Amino acid sequence: MFFKYLLFFLILSRIVASSQQEDVGFTYNGFRGVNMSLDGLAQITQNGLLMLANTTKREVGHAFYPQPVSFLNKSSGNVLSSFSTTFVFAMFSELAIAGGPGIVLVISSSKKFPGAFPSSYFGLFNTTNTGKSSNHVIGVELDTTQNKEFNDINDNHVGININGLISLKSAPASYFSDEENQFVNLSLRSGNPMQLWVEYDGTEKQFNVTLAPISIPKPKIPLLSLIIDLSQTIMDPMFVGFSSSTSALDVYHFVLGWSFKMNGKAKELSLSQLPKLPRMGMGSKTKSRTLVDIGFPVICVSLVLLSIFIIQFIVRRKKKFAEVIEDWELEYGPQRFKYKDLYIATKGFNEKQLLGIGGFGKVYKGILLPNSKEIAVKRVSHDSRQGVREFIAEIVSIGKLHHRNIVTLLGYCRRKGELFLVYDFMANGSLDKFIFENQSSSRMNNNKTLSWNQRFHIVKGVASALLYLHQEWEQVVVHRDVKSSNVMLDEELNGKLGDFGLARLYDHGGGDPKSTHVVGTFGYLAPELSTTRKVNPSIDVFAFGVFLLEVACGRRPIEPQASEECLVLVDWVISSWCKGLILETVDPKLEMNYEVEEMELVLKLGLFCTHSIPTARPSMQQVVRYLEGEVPLPELLPSLSQSHSMPLEGTGGGDFSIWCPYLGSSTSPSSSIADSLLSGGR
Ligand SMILES: *[C@@H]1O[C@H](CO)[C@@H](O)[C@H](O)[C@H]1NC(C)=O
Ligand SMILES: *[C@@H]1O[C@H](CO)[C@@H](O)[C@H](O)[C@H]1NC(C)=O
Ligand SMILES: *[C@@H]1O[C@H](CO)[C@@H](O)[C@H](O)[C@H]1NC(C)=O
Repeated sequence: MFFKYLLFFLILSRIVASSQQEDVGFTYNGFRGVNMSLDGLAQITQNGLLMLANTTKREVGHAFYPQPVSFLNKSSGNVLSSFSTTFVFAMFSELAIAGGPGIVLVISSSKKFPGAFPSSYFGLFNTTNTGKSSNHVIGVELDTTQNKEFNDINDNHVGININGLISLKSAPASYFSDEENQFVNLSLRSGNPMQLWVEYDGTEKQFNVTLAPISIPKPKIPLLSLIIDLSQTIMDPMFVGFSSSTSALDVYHFVLGWSFKMNGKAKELSLSQLPKLPRMGMGSKTKSRTLVDIGFPVICVSLVLLSIFIIQFIVRRKKKFAEVIEDWELEYGPQRFKYKDLYIATKGFNEKQLLGIGGFGKVYKGILLPNSKEIAVKRVSHDSRQGVREFIAEIVSIGKLHHRNIVTLLGYCRRKGELFLVYDFMANGSLDKFIFENQSSSRMNNNKTLSWNQRFHIVKGVASALLYLHQEWEQVVVHRDVKSSNVMLDEELNGKLGDFGLARLYDHGGGDPKSTHVVGTFGYLAPELSTTRKVNPSIDVFAFGVFLLEVACGRRPIEPQASEECLVLVDWVISSWCKGLILETVDPKLEMNYEVEEMELVLKLGLFCTHSIPTARPSMQQVVRYLEGEVPLPELLPSLSQSHSMPLEGTGGGDFSIWCPYLGSSTSPSSSIADSLLSGGR
């Protein structure tokens, strides 16, 4: 018996010893039969692709090398090791203009990320822990969405991240072409397979990231190179793997092969052995690849190109103004614009006419003949298989909305894969430019901070627009994306709610007609949306509450650069209020020029509207009455109650549970609403 144990012990110690001596290294040309720690959406497909994300919305997927890996060189006094890794990936998105957030190569002290959010949080962090050094997470992000909160440079970039979502260094997705001697752009979400190399030199502390299409050998010059000491971030041991997350769009994220080597160069992947990608709706990627693989004579390709060119030339004139009209659209005649007219109005969608680039597409200024009416044309690319028909029906019905605080939708036009929405032109652009941008960095006519009177006027206008949508029109319309960047200002600085229904265009995409996906913008999403998909006017009230605070405080709902206490706007206002210092949150750009009563009303009403319990929020009718001073705002009392479920990502606040301790019984008279607030927050 004793000898058995001794033997076992000896074997065990040998295993341990050998694993300490040998540097970890593995090479997977495909993942068939490979043991990976998978969770969430991650799975290995039948033909050996590591699929990190599928079309399930707002979820995360993790795939890790199952064994822990030591990044410390035990034989030379625990100094940081060098490592090298490379993988081939492909990301598909249903829309060419937007992607699911993307893939992150992760080195982390844990394989599990409890409480991490999907979407832009990549399944690694949440609003409270992003940026904290206790995370011990190193990431190389392949990011296909632009999140301004995290200083993303564009919606197609590669970044090096330590412990959080703001990249230390990032660059537009591109590779250095040795032939052309310059960087060549790539589209991460094109569905084309690409290879990424990540190398770290533990002595020089140099971190290199190199990207290239798989048809190109590793470029000499890395895309990103950063001197960084990882010794504070690396613990012993760490795990290596991938994290991916989805948002509201259909995406597929694949890793085709992966190689890793500690203290050495990762073995090159054998590209011909990698599993094949499935055919996606987006066309002939796989086809064109096999052509290249076979090495089809260049002459043939150029012949094909030439004939395509000639045919295109012939067809081009005809096609230039071609649009798509289907039978069901005929009844919408009056709301339909001719593509040709929009083309002429916008001078051929000239970049000089560009008013802005929004979440859903570019917006151009146009002058419509014959009466020289100024218009704004939003150009949205879409997948024609999606619920365009329902969307157009909604657009047309929205076009019937008329209210002085709603941007009038004049009509639409449709081409293959493209949709044009025609709006009244708003001379002063969107409100967010006025309230968020520093005076110094703002342009042209935007260099004026709005006065409090102007802001209060805009807020009241938006409130009356929402009241109209919720209660005064023939149907109940829920806007679903209320935020300052969707409030447009006309010449006289009247606030007008815009961008109706666009969120819904993407909503129709999913298979199940009954379920609606969460759409909207992080930071403005009511917490109940994480558990119920029911769309109810109270989610607009929540977003309106966040909007009120934005306007009063002059900052975005989530400010990652701010101190932890001030990170989430709603929380910050609540905690300042608890200290009796609610006015300290007021936008410093106002330079103390405001009516204290109005300001307090707006701030407190903002908190009231962002209550985490939907039924405790006021209706828009009540909101309008409070703002107009017809009814006094009930005395809201901070509550002592305990926290309830985690709010949806990006909202953070609205959870009255974190209100300061009850202010004492001397301020006793509490209205019924205050009671409901008190009882609500648990
Ligand atoms: C995505 O993958 C998950 C996990 O394997 C699975 O449960 C889910 O049904 C898949 N969703 C779709 C739309 O294929
Ligand atoms: C490459 O992409 C960057 C960022 O999107 C852009 O600024 C640049 O003009 C592009 N270059 C080319 C050659 O298209
Ligand atoms: C990073 O790239 C630079 C520039 O090409 C190169 O000199 C250096 O050796 C690279 N370092 C690593 C760790 O690959």
